Parts: sequence; C-alpha cells; structure tokens
Amino acid sequence: MSERLTTRIGVLALPNPVICGSGEPVMTAAGIRAALAAGAAGVIAKSVNERPDAAAQLDRADYTQLDAAGAPVSQGVSVFCRSGLAPYDPGAWFATLAEIDREAAANGRFVAASLVLASADGAVRIADLARRAGLRVFELNVGAPHASEAASGAILQETDPVRLGELVTRVRSVTNGMSLWVKLTGLSSNLPALALAASQAGADAVCMMGRFMALVPDLETLAPVLNTSAAYGGGWALPIVCRFLAMSRRALGSGIPLIGTNGVRSGGDVARMALAGASAVECVSVVMHEGFGGLKRIIDQLDAWLAAKQLRFVDLIGGAADALQPYGAQSERPGHWRSFVPPEAVEQE
Ligand SMILES: Cc1cc2nc3c(=O)[nH]c(=O)nc-3n(C[C@H](O)[C@H](O)[C@H](O)COP(=O)(O)O)c2cc1C
Repeated sequence: MSERLTTRIGVLALPNPVICGSGEPVMTAAGIRAALAAGAAGVIAKSVNERPDAAAQLDRADYTQLDAAGAPVSQGVSVFCRSGLAPYDPGAWFATLAEIDREAAANGRFVAASLVLASADGAVRIADLARRAGLRVFELNVGAPHASEAASGAILQETDPVRLGELVTRVRSVTNGMSLWVKLTGLSSNLPALALAASQAGADAVCMMGRFMALVPDLETLAPVLNTSAAYGGGWALPIVCRFLAMSRRALGSGIPLIGTNGVRSGGDVARMALAGASAVECVSVVMHEGFGGLKRIIDQLDAWLAAKQLRFVDLIGGAADALQPYGAQSERPGHWRSFVPPEAVEQE
C-alpha cells in the first residue's frame, strides 16, 4: 500500500486511515482477522462492559437495512438496529484480542479493546484488564445510542464535560503506556466541550460521533420497524459529523487527533472526514452492507483519488475545517434568494 495513505493517531503510525469500528462483524477472532485481511489499518473489537444485562441485550438484538427513503429492504443504504454487547468474559476476550494485536503489529496494524460505559468503576476495572492483557489501544465509548432503551444502568451516556473529565482521568490512570481513545455520542450538541474535556483529562484521541436514535414507522405494517426505537446511521450523517469534527478541531487545536465515525461509505467520504479534521475513520455499516471487502473498496477508492489529486492523506487533515467561515464574512447579495424559490413566489415589480 502506498505512502500516500499513511496517517498517525498519537504514537500509533498507521498504513491507512480506515479502521473497522466496533460492532458485530468484529465480535469473533475470525471477523477481526477478516477485517485486517481486507486492509483495515486496525480493528476496534466488539465492546464489552461489566453488566450482564448489557450483554444479554444481544439476544434481543435485531437489524435491518433501510433504503434512502427509509423503507426496510434487504440491501439498503442505512443500518437500523438495536444491538447488545459481546457476552464474553472481558479478560478472556482481551487475551484473544492481544494475540491478534501482536500479529497485526507485525504489519503496522492494531486491534483495540472497547468498552461501552456503564459505570466509572467498571470502566476502570475493565481498562486495567486490557492493559494487563498487553493491548496497545483502549477505546472508551461514553455515548452508545442504546442507553435510553437498554436495561436501567446497563449503558450510560455521558454528556457532561466535568463528569467526562473525571471518568477519563480515572481510566487514564490505569492505561499508562496505552493509547486511550474516547468515543463520543451523536446525541448531544456539546461535542466540542466533551472533546476538550476528554483530551484535557488525558485522552490520546477523540472519536465522534455515535449514531442517532430513531423511530421508523413501516408503511406496510403501520407499526414501528423492529418494534422499537433503534440506532440509525447512514451516509446522510456524514456532513453532520464533519461539522462537529471541525468545531472540535477548533476547540482542541490540531494537536489532538480526531477520529471520524458515522456515515463513511466511500473513499471520498474518508477524504471528507479528513478535510473536516479526522486523522482516521471507523467504519462498520459498509461491512454490514457488503462484507469486509467494503473496507478494501474504500481504501482503494481513497488511494486512487489521492493519486489523481497528487495529494497525501495527511495533507487533507483539517483543510476544510480551517477554511470554515462565519455567515457574517460572506459578501452581500441582495435578492439572491429569489433564484431558489418557485417563480410564483417572486413578486413582479
Ligand atoms: C450493528 C452495530 C453494532 C455496533 N456495536 C458497537 C459497539 O459495540 N461499540 C461501539 O463503540 N460502537 C458500536 N457500533 C457503532 C460503530 O462502531 C460505528 O461507530 C457506527 O456504526 C457508525 O459508523 P458507520 O456509519 O460506518 O456504521 C455498532 C454499530 C453497528 C451498526
């Protein structure tokens, strides 16, 4: 793979910016190896936490794909699902991950442990297990979208910067020598403040933003698709994520790496996330839509686009974010609005 694709998240040098994000496709050693074989720079393994009811939720999980109009279809453009956590003993799971991480390191890649927050004590205990297993990267997800629907206390969404800072400080204290990445919710508009709190408390990178919660009424059955609210993502989410990446870059400066997630479907989308400030991206839905080959497709598309533009990936990072202007800086164009409404709406002089 070419030099143009390389990137860096803190001390971790990566061959390309495409990471397979946490989700059911990487809940087995076979899935993790398949993601790495497809060319992913790394894998965030399926999350665990200390709550048996969060893992038990996996038995009630369900998934569908939606087309662009929001109708359930077998091959769509959005994943709509209620998920659960990996029903594994964290110590045993991390031992498996550490073994694959050692193999991956030989190729400049990585496998990370991931925790979906339930409690600070649980997060500290499980992060400590990840370090003892010898893992190099720990991702702390404080914003899983299912928090409101899961059993009480099984999943916690942290949207308060002060509490987030306290949590990250505690997790940081048991992850010395590891890269600590904090993944934020998509269900708060407070992301720049949360990103700042996480980085000031010692996070090495901040990932944003989690998927949204949605209700999809089915026009065939007239009932809610999957019977419940559920997490919803799609390519449509990418511009929203890009704006929060840019605002967070402004709050943090360019020294703290950002990782984009939610909406990447093509190599061009990786470039868009990078221009908004991301040093890498985490993808899952493409793997649900088209298998692990989707990761290879995205990497190949990005490589071809960079080659055609004679650019390196790292040169993209933050380019559009740093060029972002306020409304007030735009030149005045009185009457310009008339070109964008039906002619009947424009009064004749
Ligand atoms: C079926 C499914 C399961 C997921 N499980 C987890 C999880 O356990 N932990 C986590 O941090 N994120 C989880 N995610 C979120 C993904 O890692 C990713 O951030 C999100 O899907 C947005 O990226 P995408 O548009 O590429 O899918 C899950 C996503 C899906 C679709």
